[in-house]
Amino acid sequence: MTAILAMDGPSGAGKSSTSKAIAVRAGWNYLDTGALYRGATWLALNKKIQSAEELLVALSQSPLKFNPNPKSPMLKCGEIDISDAIRSEEVTSQVSKFAAMPEIRSVLVALQREIISNAEKGIVVEGRDIGTVVAPNAHLKIYLTADLTARAKRREAELNTNEDLSQSLATRDEMDSTRQTSPLEQAIDAVLVDSTDLDLNETTELIWELLKE
Ligand code: DC
Repeated sequence: MTAILAMDGPSGAGKSSTSKAIAVRAGWNYLDTGALYRGATWLALNKKIQSAEELLVALSQSPLKFNPNPKSPMLKCGEIDISDAIRSEEVTSQVSKFAAMPEIRSVLVALQREIISNAEKGIVVEGRDIGTVVAPNAHLKIYLTADLTARAKRREAELNTNEDLSQSLATRDEMDSTRQTSPLEQAIDAVLVDSTDLDLNETTELIWELLKE
């Protein structure tokens, strides 16, 4: 059975950097489930689609393909590499809307489970509902969080902007936490890690020790 590390938590807590660092160190695969929701959103915006039904058809014609190598994760939609396009402001501002659609979640969760079961040694999976819905039997579940100001500062540094991103992060957290289908929440058996006062190395070391245990 594939070993699974589930890494959930709100935006900007450091899930991606930490997940990739752990996966590289362990020689495991890496799955960014947020990238899949972003990919579906990119397709919807590209094809000017509003409804879940139309988006399901578009996704079956141009399927999402994720390369689970933590050193070079890549997302394709059909034959197009959309790894950079899914990070645009437009996709970021619309993704919570499409991620709240149960039909879309259902096909993307099936895709996530397929990618997980294809991992040979193990896989680090980051998202919002990994420990609760996608892989409730994960061997280790981490709920990685940090206070809003710290998360906004990190995102601003990542995107190299002077704009205050705390409001947009707070709006996205609110939508992701209050939706009907698999909202962001800490699994009861998840270990809470608060990275407000930790850098990437310290966070990675802490989680690495938990994984070794
Ligand atoms: O981690 P991220 O910011 O790239 O995620 C993009 C959006 O996708 C985020 O607003 C919430 C949603 N998402 C989700 O609903 N479930 C997941 N497992 C991962 C992400």
